[in-house]
Amino acid sequence: MNWSNELTKRFKIDYPIIQAPMLGLTTPEMVAAVSNQGGLGSLPVGGLSPMDTLALIQKTKSLTTRPFAVNLFVNDVPAQSGREIASMRRFLNELAAANGLAIELQDQQFQFYSYKEQVPLLLQEDVGIISFTFGMPDDASIRTFKNNGSVLIGTATCLREARLLQEQQVDYIVAQGIEAGGHRGTFVVDEPLPQIGMTSLVSQIARYVPVPVIAAGGIHDGHTIKAVFSLGAAAAQIGSAFIASNESKAIDAYKDAVQKMTDTDAVLTRAFSGRWARGIRNKFMNAVDQANISIPPYPYQNSLTTPVRALAQKHNNKDFTNLWAGQSAGTCERLPAGEIFMKLVREAEGIG
Ligand SMILES: Cc1cc2nc3c(=O)[nH]c(=O)nc-3n(C[C@H](O)[C@H](O)[C@H](O)COP(=O)(O)O)c2cc1C
Repeated sequence: MNWSNELTKRFKIDYPIIQAPMLGLTTPEMVAAVSNQGGLGSLPVGGLSPMDTLALIQKTKSLTTRPFAVNLFVNDVPAQSGREIASMRRFLNELAAANGLAIELQDQQFQFYSYKEQVPLLLQEDVGIISFTFGMPDDASIRTFKNNGSVLIGTATCLREARLLQEQQVDYIVAQGIEAGGHRGTFVVDEPLPQIGMTSLVSQIARYVPVPVIAAGGIHDGHTIKAVFSLGAAAAQIGSAFIASNESKAIDAYKDAVQKMTDTDAVLTRAFSGRWARGIRNKFMNAVDQANISIPPYPYQNSLTTPVRALAQKHNNKDFTNLWAGQSAGTCERLPAGEIFMKLVREAEGIG
């Protein structure tokens, strides 16, 4: 099988297969393992402080000399509703107390970092490939990246978003199908959440938008990798298959839950972060659903639930933390990320 195409040449990689950025579980070790095998690792730094961002980039560079992408969250922060936030805080405190989670959320000053604070670091570290989700960077940041010769990869969940990204002159578009695990990259918010399957999305962007497409959502074996090239994709981006990898920071109970899940277990929820995301249904999601309570938007809800999730993770408790996973995540394996990657490559090569 000839893997070489325009994208592999531009990125200077051997295989057009990208390990998806997965904030919360992707480590520099995971990124380097995939890049060292000739794929493209992606380092997620969405919403992190400039100091953490720098440390992660430098750590990854110490583990690989091959190209890797750095992934940003480019969302705006909406105005906050004090009343909605206070009522969610009360609800979370009651939920924690009822479930033996020793935590008491206090009135807090929110502190959010903007991707704009990360831009100078990315230039300083000469990051050549930048992917982003939750929106589009502002014109000034796009110009800065372009002047620096960086390759830009935006995320679209419908054709309209793909066209907006094309207008911003991004170099590649990740078409994130509804099968995908984790947050939806959706940024067109004046209509209901787009729920386009990967096949429809990739093939239509390939047909109507003159920007190369990277397929994401539900790709988990040799067959699905081969399929996306038939649909017109330039690369496959794969997340869930790496959740249980040795280099993943996912807690043990999360890795177990993903390996045991079936196709219907991972559902869309706003309960953890205020943004739609796909994860395995658990007690926390059920409790928020049943309470029928108004959920503050991202990133407020994300901040509010952080202490609960952190405590649950500390105790290897899968009931009160987010278990992001895609519809095909059940096939993931507990292996080194480099082995998972090469297994996918060999499987695709073995399919006539
Ligand atoms: C645990 C997890 C965390 C994720 N975090 C990010 C992220 O930080 N940035 C991003 O652009 N996409 C993120 N995603 C979405 C992935 O980049 C990708 O779209 C998705 O994993 C592809 O579908 P799949 O999970 O079926 O392979 C995340 C996905 C998962 C499963």
